[in-house]
Amino acid sequence: MNILYVTSEAVPFCKTGGLADVAGSLPPALAAEGVETAVILPLYDKIGPQWREKMTFRRYIYVDLGWRHEYCGLFSLYDRGVTWYFVDNEKYFRRGRLYGEFDDGERFAFFSKAVVDLLPSLDWMPDILHCNDWQTALVPIYLKDAATRWWEIRHIRTVFTIHNIEYQGRYGSDSVDQLFGLDRGWYDDGTLRMDGDVNLMKGAMLMADAVTTVSPTYAAQLHDPAYACGLEQVVHLIDYKLSGVLNGLDTESYNPAHDGSLPRTFDPDHMEGKAVCKAELQRQLGLVQEPDTPLMAIVSRLVGHKGMDLVCQGLEGIMATGCQLVVLGQGESQFEDAFRWAQSRWPGRVSAQITYSDNLSRRIYGAADLFLMPSRSEPCGLSQLIAMRYGAVPIVRQTGGLNDTVRSCQVGQPDGNGYVFSGCTVHDLCQTVGQAVGLYRGDRMGFDIVRRRGMTEDFSWNRSAGAYRRIYQDLSRRNH
Ligand code: GLC
Repeated sequence: MNILYVTSEAVPFCKTGGLADVAGSLPPALAAEGVETAVILPLYDKIGPQWREKMTFRRYIYVDLGWRHEYCGLFSLYDRGVTWYFVDNEKYFRRGRLYGEFDDGERFAFFSKAVVDLLPSLDWMPDILHCNDWQTALVPIYLKDAATRWWEIRHIRTVFTIHNIEYQGRYGSDSVDQLFGLDRGWYDDGTLRMDGDVNLMKGAMLMADAVTTVSPTYAAQLHDPAYACGLEQVVHLIDYKLSGVLNGLDTESYNPAHDGSLPRTFDPDHMEGKAVCKAELQRQLGLVQEPDTPLMAIVSRLVGHKGMDLVCQGLEGIMATGCQLVVLGQGESQFEDAFRWAQSRWPGRVSAQITYSDNLSRRIYGAADLFLMPSRSEPCGLSQLIAMRYGAVPIVRQTGGLNDTVRSCQVGQPDGNGYVFSGCTVHDLCQTVGQAVGLYRGDRMGFDIVRRRGMTEDFSWNRSAGAYRRIYQDLSRRNH
């Protein structure tokens, strides 16, 4: 069984969010389970020379997209049991960034069409194309279109994974033929039509043979208009082929025992290094050097659906618990400004790092005692998993993947690995932060037990790679 994983980003080559972490770690985990796996992604200029040196040029073709006739190069490299294919076209992918360009629709339609047109140029013909999010949502449609004329690809089945239903890829109705080069029938019959627009995610949900999302709770929540961002009716229609598979973490890369970004490494049985990480971070960020003050961290995009409005409104209450707070991230200016203000309001106790840095994020996870993630919605969330592995006890809202990974240790819950609150209110947030800080201050041994539970839990792909393998197997069996 051969799997081609189609993604618009993958660690370690390029990353803007959690999709890249998943695309960089699930395929090697599948390969380790004996599934033949390859990945295909755009060759952005962001992908540095250290990777380009390792690539082999395979061939080039021309891809037709409506009236456009575009060069399309194919490169590959082999790493961790997986062949990684890169689609080259400098007009589309030499932009200095991955997304946010005026022609994103055209750029990712080109990539999606190229994936189908390049199938005969790969080392083997896949049995499954596994696509992710709106950027690759046209793949199942181009594949169906091409299969009407090309029998060698008729056996290929498609899986579409929703990492976040908020980003659907919506374009004007003219784009069906003008931009995407498809017959207008795809719009007129409702496959791509949604509220008078083209909606790529809807099209993929209808056309893929299986649809997955990144946690069981989010899969259930997608039936609810409050989470489905207008697509709840489509979710009802495809419920028979929808499942939630919890993401795993790359536990090699995120391992406090080997992480070269940390000033001192540590593991559950040797926690002295964590105290060094905390002291070092306090020193570097200008926080008061107090080893026994609980250090709480936020590493997040600073946007509303991550619950940053609750944090900003609750700052007085949070700081009244007596913790220190470090925030790392970028996003909406109202939140960036609120955290900068907090840094001057509580000097030596709040540090606002309004930037994106993988290295600093690891040092923060390594130093923190508590990790705050009050998301309004969270398809899976990886930060809470990293936090737990690095010994920072998570405080999360009960939603999506947070609900599937963090168990409350509030009164009467013997197996907890964090703190969970359900109401989307400043009161619930502050009260829960107060409880967590209270445990740290009042019962350090109890706190260390909770911390250790998180550090020793298995968050690797061991839990979920098998679930994907079974989905692929079920689909490929249907061919025979
Ligand atoms: C998106 C989701 C996040 C998830 C990630 C990987 O970024 O917002 O919750 O962990 O995708 O699937």
